[in-house]
Amino acid sequence: MTTSAAVAARVEHEPREAAPFVKWVGGKGRLLSQLRPLLPPGVEQMRHVEPFVGGGALFFSRVPRRALLTDINPTLISTYTAIRDDVKSVIGGLRRLANQHSKERYYEVRARYNQERRIGTSKRAAMFIYLNKTCFNGLHRVNRKGEFNVPAGSYKSPRILNEAALQSASKALQGADLRCTSFDALLESAKPGDFIYFDPPYAPVSVTANFTSYAQDGFSQDDQTRLRDVYRALDRRGCKLMLSNSDVPFIRDLYGKFKVDTVAAPRAINCDATKRGKVREVVVRNYV
Ligand SMILES: C[S@@+](CC[C@H](N)C(=O)[O-])C[C@H]1O[C@@H](n2cnc3c(N)ncnc32)[C@H](O)[C@@H]1O
Repeated sequence: MTTSAAVAARVEHEPREAAPFVKWVGGKGRLLSQLRPLLPPGVEQMRHVEPFVGGGALFFSRVPRRALLTDINPTLISTYTAIRDDVKSVIGGLRRLANQHSKERYYEVRARYNQERRIGTSKRAAMFIYLNKTCFNGLHRVNRKGEFNVPAGSYKSPRILNEAALQSASKALQGADLRCTSFDALLESAKPGDFIYFDPPYAPVSVTANFTSYAQDGFSQDDQTRLRDVYRALDRRGCKLMLSNSDVPFIRDLYGKFKVDTVAAPRAINCDATKRGKVREVVVRNYV
């Protein structure tokens, strides 16, 4: 079989069965057709590990039998857990919220979500999904006190409840181990032969005067360097590694000894829609 035929066969055996249940900044949905051909040969037999899972676009497009999904966002991970373990209650809660939706109701739910700490996991998951589907641009932003503070979006009729999509997501998650941890925890949990996809907050594209202290989404240049050190350690351990980031000299320097490909991401980089274009991103692999 030629290499491209082998890639096509690999992709065909993995039909797209599920999709992210939240909108997530940096979600990889629109890049899947470029990322999937870069998966390692034999990936179907490997455990799928994503330490920056976010909306989980790659995971849901593959639906691997075994997975470890982690993220530093605690409510995101508890929402994944509720969908895996009690999707019926999440759907029920979301249906009630969807039926009552209005701008005023959004702010009431947001206040309750921030103030009441003893809400059950499934109810809280329903609130998290409701706020994600109805807030401005699907952003997730919290203030210093950890309170979600994104304003309401101005959608006419947002699709708040997609029952079939939640059921598919729940099915896809049955073999997944879910943990709220920072990426360094992989040094404890990754095993030789794991496939690991890293999709961290990206290094900034425009270099500002104080670049060294600049942290995009709280992820600083030091964090990018620590991540590269983790990548190197897991390479030595025998894991198959794929990482996305911006195509900037700083990132190319960090991963210089690995295989670097570029993909073109359709991205809104300008408020003026006529000036939106494609942004180049790198995909760093430790295999061919
Ligand atoms: C670019 S998004 C991932 C998008 C995801 N691939 C998707 O398709 O939706 C980056 C994620 O990294 C998480 N994150 C930020 N800092 C982290 C850290 N130190 N360790 C683990 N996750 C972190 C954020 O909560 C966010 O969900």
